Amino acid sequence: MPQNQVKKHKVDPKQSLYLLHPYNTCLITAKDRNDQINVMAVAWIIPVNVDPPLIAMSIRPERYTYPMIKERGEFVVNIPTFMQARDVLFCGRRSGRNHDKFQNTQYTPQNARKVNVPIIKECIAHLECKVEKIMTLPDHDLIIGEVLTAYALEDYFIELYNIEKYQPCLHIGKNLFTTCLKETLEPKL
Ligand SMILES: Cc1cc2nc3c(=O)[nH]c(=O)nc-3n(C[C@H](O)[C@H](O)[C@H](O)COP(=O)(O)O)c2cc1C
Repeated sequence: MPQNQVKKHKVDPKQSLYLLHPYNTCLITAKDRNDQINVMAVAWIIPVNVDPPLIAMSIRPERYTYPMIKERGEFVVNIPTFMQARDVLFCGRRSGRNHDKFQNTQYTPQNARKVNVPIIKECIAHLECKVEKIMTLPDHDLIIGEVLTAYALEDYFIELYNIEKYQPCLHIGKNLFTTCLKETLEPKL
């Protein structure tokens, strides 16, 4: 069929956000005033500035993790792998209000380097952040964080990811995940 005859169906505006997926799912760790720790899955997270290094993530204020991030002004972005999809889903479908996510997953909290919030030992990389700005949107808040320090397993990442080794946990939508091909392509311009 010629290209101009291919039918593109109308996508509901709310569902259109999933046209931007798959997104790399991260695990955000946070700690409240009483030193209670928690972890939540966040797929809506992107880099937004180089110097200083800033990231932006969109979080619904009703998440149990949200006031923890706001109170302490610190959080860690932990990078899981595709093999961890079950535990990522658990952190994204169960609330810390009534589940201890560290008890119910393979994840172990470990001290961070600069912030007073734990990292997840089993993740392959970590970005320790402080809250820089919060922008309120109708049903999410956009949290801008400055990366204070970051570190990664050497076989997964040096200056870029080693895609032969790293299989990201990419969220398609609903409870579905995918990952990358091992091949890379460097087009010549
Ligand atoms: C793969 C995946 C990605 C998610 N991404 C986000 C996100 O970007 N922002 C958000 O507010 N919630 C997101 N969620 C939902 C929260 O992770 C979920 O509501 C979680 O239970 C919140 O945990 P908490 O109540 O312990 O903070 C996601 C869920 C899944 C499964």
